Amino acid sequence: MKINKSCMPTHIAIIMDGNGRWATRRGLPRKLGHKAGVDAVKRTINACLKHNIKYCTFFAFSTENWKRSKEEVDAIFDLVRDHIKENIEKMIEKGIKINSIGVLERFPKDLVDTLNDAKEKTKDFDKLTVTFALNYGGRDDLVRAFNKLIKQGIQEITTQDISNNLDSANLPDPDFVIRTSGEQRISNFMLYQMAYSELYFPKTYWPDFNEKHLLKAVAAYQKRDRRYGGIK
Ligand code: IPE
Ligand code: IPE
Ligand code: MG
Repeated sequence: MKINKSCMPTHIAIIMDGNGRWATRRGLPRKLGHKAGVDAVKRTINACLKHNIKYCTFFAFSTENWKRSKEEVDAIFDLVRDHIKENIEKMIEKGIKINSIGVLERFPKDLVDTLNDAKEKTKDFDKLTVTFALNYGGRDDLVRAFNKLIKQGIQEITTQDISNNLDSANLPDPDFVIRTSGEQRISNFMLYQMAYSELYFPKTYWPDFNEKHLLKAVAAYQKRDRRYGGIK
């Protein structure tokens, strides 16, 4: 795959979709699809490091995903917690900063503690920032930002005020959003932040996603002409 190393997207955000279908197709329970999805997360993180992508955000659990069975929801939480626990040392070695967006309050304490510990231990790193979107919804993010601004007593809101009060305040807007599995929708992901993101919808189910798929996606990104409303 021909990649131009000098114009990699700074921030790739991924809507990891298709875990359930991947499992069902194999006659497996859905949670094994999520388990296989964790391997795809690891491959993607390593590929980002290798190809000098500075920010990678994974949509792991949406504000709407609470509609699923408790068994499936708990399985996802356990996987996220175990992934962080098992990989924290490696992430520190590699200079990865762990971050999250979304409201953690409703999550099990062991997951919140693991995540907060990982954030604290990696806060000074900047080789790659890995953000997990957990109990995240784009609308919820905006509502919380507006409420913070109201509490500050603000009379008139600017676009910069909004950006500064979203969960992603410390992240650049995503340049490139990939949603796997062939679905072509945003499903309440980073609505405000995606205003000028390039979008890409490969058919691959998330558990099959690998470095080759990522490079193919980046090659497609590099062919896009980002005009931001202007004329070149
Ligand atoms: C994405 O895979 C993972 C989460 C939403 C947590 P899905 O579980 O949505 O997989 P499909 O869409 O049912 O195949
Ligand atoms: C979006 O996938 C959320 C995550 C990837 C975490 P869903 O599978 O939940 O989205 P819909 O229901 O197909 O829109
Ligand atoms: Mg899905």
